[in-house]
Amino acid sequence: MQHTDIKEVLTNPALIGATVTVCGWVRTARDSKNVAFLALNDGTSLGHLQIVIDKTRNVAYENADKLGAAIRVVGTLVESAQNGVEIQADEVTLLGDCPPEYPLQKKRHTLEYLRTIPHLRLRTNTFNAVFRVRSVLARALHNYFQSHNYVYVNTPLITASDCEGAGEMFQVTTIGYSDQYKNADEYYAADFFGKRAGLSVSGQLEGEVAATAFGKIYTFGPSFRAENSNTPRHVAEFWHIEPEVAFAELPDVLAIAEEMIKSVISEVLEKCPDELRFFEEHFEAGLIAKLQDLISHEFAVVDYTDAIDILKKSGQDFRYPVEWGCDLQTEHERYIAEVVCKRAVFITNYPREIKSFYMKQNPDGKTVAAADLLVPGVGEIIGGSERESNYDKLVAEMKRRKMNLEAYADYLDLRRFGSVPHGGFGLGFERLIMYVTGMKNIRDVALYPRTVGSIR
Ligand code: 4AD
Repeated sequence: MQHTDIKEVLTNPALIGATVTVCGWVRTARDSKNVAFLALNDGTSLGHLQIVIDKTRNVAYENADKLGAAIRVVGTLVESAQNGVEIQADEVTLLGDCPPEYPLQKKRHTLEYLRTIPHLRLRTNTFNAVFRVRSVLARALHNYFQSHNYVYVNTPLITASDCEGAGEMFQVTTIGYSDQYKNADEYYAADFFGKRAGLSVSGQLEGEVAATAFGKIYTFGPSFRAENSNTPRHVAEFWHIEPEVAFAELPDVLAIAEEMIKSVISEVLEKCPDELRFFEEHFEAGLIAKLQDLISHEFAVVDYTDAIDILKKSGQDFRYPVEWGCDLQTEHERYIAEVVCKRAVFITNYPREIKSFYMKQNPDGKTVAAADLLVPGVGEIIGGSERESNYDKLVAEMKRRKMNLEAYADYLDLRRFGSVPHGGFGLGFERLIMYVTGMKNIRDVALYPRTVGSIR
């Protein structure tokens, strides 16, 4: 269907005076004796295009003035004092009627209500802006890595090994367990892959395989977590960006993460000014200054042990008590990022016991070369580390954790054949979008969020 994008119509002065065809959904309609006004939106821009129907010219528009109706308009683009430009309609065609029970009415709906209509909420300004920023951020991430010699690899989504080792994997199976099997091993042997398989929680292990061949790689795809965390920051299916870099130690991993975050946020500031202004007005006052501030200041770095000291001396009444060795809870992360550092902060060198088996063991024997990036308002958006590249140390750690070494034979081979210091991190895409847009619930930055007890 030949037509011009409304974004183009709104921004290209060369079209003024020309006859244009536009398509879209009616956002508002106003009718008076001699003239009808429709605000049309086709999703290509936040701005609506005003359609003016001069009733004295007998332009037929029956049912086209209904909220939500899909229409096609042919007319002349003219300058307008109020709207910049508008179309004087010559021809209005109803493409899809919309009855009055259309769930999106003119009033502002709550985000909670909009979550109940995921198939329609995308037609609101809020979701138009969220998904445009999401799309621009995705391109910016690819741009960053591609322009720094990284190879984009796609790691398998069905896997036999649990990367994070926390038992949070969804099982992939074609048969149900029954008493027909003597035990779990016999059941898994009869299943599709002949062994237990699940949805990947992270592409890191395969990413390391690729990085120790191509030098620098990144993945950008879904990861799955069966964790029972019903919070505004957790979904069961999220998009994960995981760079992995050979010949890199912990400080290199931090530098890459900081440069990448600043690069993609700069790109959004440049490409999405209208969307950011919208979020600033409706969701987070000071959002643009926050993003500008982030790209123009160095991220803080705080050692885990120092963070524990700071928290203990803070005089705060935290819900979860703080002791060296504890995992930092959201309240602790936010205190460090928002009250102490007031900016993005890497927490480094976590206790070995609360982190994954693959992290490089520090000489103190108690901590590992890990780093999480916390940002004000959201908390952790990145988790990463230098990896243990010493075969003997890695095997000893895996044995200590009673892991099945056979299942990790490929991974261990990387430490046998030309092992190098290497590291990387995982960035949660939805968490980054939350930070950039000011949206406070992860359910509002994913098309169809999957959470405990909820799938549609
Ligand atoms: O800290 P995580 O678990 O680290 C890993 O998976 C490593 N293998 C990454 C690596 O080093 N290559 O997860 C990384 C990030 C978190 O910081 C968070 O942003 C996001 O993934 N994430 C989630 N996002 C939404 N919902 C969930 N349930 C998430 N779990 C992790």
